[in-house]
Amino acid sequence: MDNKETYDFDSKCAMHYNIKGPVNSVAPPIYTSSTYYVDSADHGAVLCAQDKPTDGRSEWLYTRWGNPTNEIPERMITQLEGGYATILTSSGMAAITSSILALLKTGDHAVFSVNIYGGTYEFITDLLPKMGISVDIVDPRDINNYASKIKDNTKLLYGETPANPTLILTDIAALAALGKQHGIPTMVDSTFGSVYNQKPITYGIDIVLHSATKYYSGHTDLVAGTITCASADHYKHISHYVRLLGGTPSPFTGYLLQRGIKTLHLRMPRHNENALTIARFLEKHPKIETVHYPGLESHPQHELAKKQMQGGFGGIIAFTVKGGAEAGRKVIESVQLITLAVSLGGVESLIEQASTMTHIMVPKEERERGGIADGLLRFSVGCENVQDLIQDLTNALNQVVV
Ligand SMILES: Cc1ncc(COP(=O)(O)O)c(C=O)c1O
Repeated sequence: MDNKETYDFDSKCAMHYNIKGPVNSVAPPIYTSSTYYVDSADHGAVLCAQDKPTDGRSEWLYTRWGNPTNEIPERMITQLEGGYATILTSSGMAAITSSILALLKTGDHAVFSVNIYGGTYEFITDLLPKMGISVDIVDPRDINNYASKIKDNTKLLYGETPANPTLILTDIAALAALGKQHGIPTMVDSTFGSVYNQKPITYGIDIVLHSATKYYSGHTDLVAGTITCASADHYKHISHYVRLLGGTPSPFTGYLLQRGIKTLHLRMPRHNENALTIARFLEKHPKIETVHYPGLESHPQHELAKKQMQGGFGGIIAFTVKGGAEAGRKVIESVQLITLAVSLGGVESLIEQASTMTHIMVPKEERERGGIADGLLRFSVGCENVQDLIQDLTNALNQVVV
């Protein structure tokens, strides 16, 4: 076996991860089989009673229990995040809902950060209360806001950092410390940061989630999620619930995902550089009202960003155009190189208006509480030439009459 733990991040992305295949291919086979034969009833009984193993197994039972192709990105992501083990799911939402449901039961309470992905917001404000689970939503910029909501029945502290779409940050180390102080598990959606820039488990967070649809994939050609656990206990518990809830990805998704991860270390520096250059350009542009990007010195949490986003500040910028929602609409409908679409984290640049698209399900007063102005545009900066992107934005902004 290779000694993966000692390799640099770049090698962990690019290297060949062995799985036992029918032939000695370097690229992994796509095992489409839903089920696997066993030698005897006793052998079947042993496999059925097994927990989901973590690494290098040669015996399989049923793809919802685990699949050899899907195990490759799971092992890669575990190495990159620095966790105990990873569970691949059929979407980012499957990762979020399955891991939250695994940890909470009727009568429990959980604290979430304001300004999270719209789907997560809907889940915690609609489904959790229906199950008798109470929720507080706090501004994470002051960790005392989490602390002040902790009760005897609090069983989860949850953060999303940088937050979708305003890019406010949660202090990951402070959240982890608070959880440890009270014996409450901590969970962080790290999608916007990407593992290249931030590794919450290394700060003491218990469970790290990603929409792997975004940076882990990088090519806008799959939907998947990841749950990386710092401990064996959380891994065993959550993988059991993922299996029950059934959010299993297809092996083709697992194949595409490992293929995307192989170039993560090459894509992310370009996302980071392009976004910083464009954020600086927007900040100086006379038609721009506000720019939110943790890499800007003007971002109120820039010092925290430098501390916990050690690889760079990511590829997402949020901004408003003078003239409000109408002016913003003009910009997103005028760009040509940049594509008007939801989602983020791919090599191609995408732009959207949060209040009318990704965050339309969040009530207006809650959006305002989280700083999501009606005209806020979310820009996922891709890997194109940065001057071409700036020219596209310049042309689009020229269409705006202020
Ligand atoms: C921060 C964040 N978390 C979770 C999700 C949900 O991921 P998926 O669409 O893969 O279910 C998204 C989707 O945009 C997201 O931006």
